[in-house]
Amino acid sequence: MPDDIPWYLDDAESMSEGERLQKVLAQRGWGSRRACEILISEARVTVNGEVAQLGRRVNVETDLVCVDAAPIGIKPDLKYMLLNKPEGVVTTASDPQGRETVFDLVPEHAGLHTVGRLDLQTEGLLIITNDGNLTHAVTHPSKGVEKEYLVQVGSSLSSGALRQLREGVDLDDGLTAPAKVSQPDPGIIRIVIHEGRNRQVRRMFDSVGHPVQRLVRIRIGPIRDNTLSPGEWRVLNTSEVIELSKACGLERYAQRP
Ligand code: URA
Repeated sequence: MPDDIPWYLDDAESMSEGERLQKVLAQRGWGSRRACEILISEARVTVNGEVAQLGRRVNVETDLVCVDAAPIGIKPDLKYMLLNKPEGVVTTASDPQGRETVFDLVPEHAGLHTVGRLDLQTEGLLIITNDGNLTHAVTHPSKGVEKEYLVQVGSSLSSGALRQLREGVDLDDGLTAPAKVSQPDPGIIRIVIHEGRNRQVRRMFDSVGHPVQRLVRIRIGPIRDNTLSPGEWRVLNTSEVIELSKACGLERYAQRP
């Protein structure tokens, strides 16, 4: 868990007094509260165009807060979590068979949904949010957001099989789009796709005669994290949300008009 105070542990402060600036910055991914105090004391933070002093309180609905002249962005009610999904956990809100779901692994799920889904046996990065615009853009094939996977199969793939995966595989729902494919070690394949069809990677490997033994998603657009253990999660920081939004062509949420 980050040392910032995530929204779900946030203590309610009176909006009439505003919230402490270092707390607002910390919540939006600028580091611990102490680190944010240092940002403020270095005069890198402005509120409505004026350099902020330590002790400053702000109203996040109406005050324009900038760090190094860039708005800190992201509406306060939008929430973004990055989970390292373990295998054997379902990507649904509730499972009729009573299996563990990805929402059992995070501290809050009311109003939240996953950005796409991973199969029961697939591991790796999964974003959980209440930002429907972002979800739509990240998952829409036309936006071309890359998803990168590491695939383990039983034996080394021939150059012909790798070429087939790269150029497109004829599945029962049509030819797959060109993919980036490499084999860093025999039987370990790195594949980057942007379509996100149901069980796409597994079906692609089935069709070249190499059923998947293990499948791990290691990147969603610009979002990577090799520090989260299976089952761990963290809050996406502001710059990650902005980078992901840029990757799918979304105008980012300005804090104020
Ligand atoms: N492709 C698959 O086959 N399964 C996943 O979970 C994700 C991509």
